[in-house]
Amino acid sequence: MVSMSRSYFDEIYRTDPDPWQFESSWYEQRKYALTMASLPGRRYRSAFEPGCSIGVLSSLLAQRCDQLLATDIVPDALNRARQRCRESTGVRVEARAIPEDWPTGPFDLVVLSEIAYYFDRPTLYQIMTRVLATSTSTATVVAVHWRGSTNYPLSGDEAHEIIGSQAELQSTVHHVEPDFLLDVWTRRPLGPGVKPKV
Ligand SMILES: C[S@@+](CC[C@H](N)C(=O)[O-])C[C@H]1O[C@@H](n2cnc3c(N)ncnc32)[C@H](O)[C@@H]1O
Repeated sequence: MVSMSRSYFDEIYRTDPDPWQFESSWYEQRKYALTMASLPGRRYRSAFEPGCSIGVLSSLLAQRCDQLLATDIVPDALNRARQRCRESTGVRVEARAIPEDWPTGPFDLVVLSEIAYYFDRPTLYQIMTRVLATSTSTATVVAVHWRGSTNYPLSGDEAHEIIGSQAELQSTVHHVEPDFLLDVWTRRPLGPGVKPKV
């Protein structure tokens, strides 16, 4: 199993509490707005966001989810996520590393936002096995990743190709920009006459 180390992320947060400018960048705000607008359900019962960082996307997801489990591996980021989501009911912020500490679910929404490219191919396939094992038969799976060059094990495009290769997932949104990919899949096909549940 190859994934970026805990010390790599500890070091990133040590020098900057918001290293990707999630709170302030227009790029991130617009990407979050597109992500939220792409979710087919009005509401979700139980969502999982691994790699939640300081909880900016988590706080938006919390508005559409009865329960949200947001996890990360860096204690300082988790503290900020807890603080940001303190008034959102139904949000749990926990220290958990994926894939090993994958929660039991069941989830009707799994959000892989800027996390899947930190793993090598076999590990991302393992993560997808866990996504499918812990999600409901009507679940939505979302992936959003930057497409630039990095020192990560996978590119954003490679990560989406692996996630989308799961036979159980049907593509409902495939949004391509020069800088990022946004994909939404459902486990049950949505088509004309098949409305998502609220
Ligand atoms: C780029 S941030 C993504 C934040 C958030 N999902 C968003 O899109 O706004 C990636 C986060 O993943 C966390 N992370 C990295 N490897 C992880 C792992 N194995 N398990 C859980 N979280 C991890 C990092 O600590 C970091 O906070």
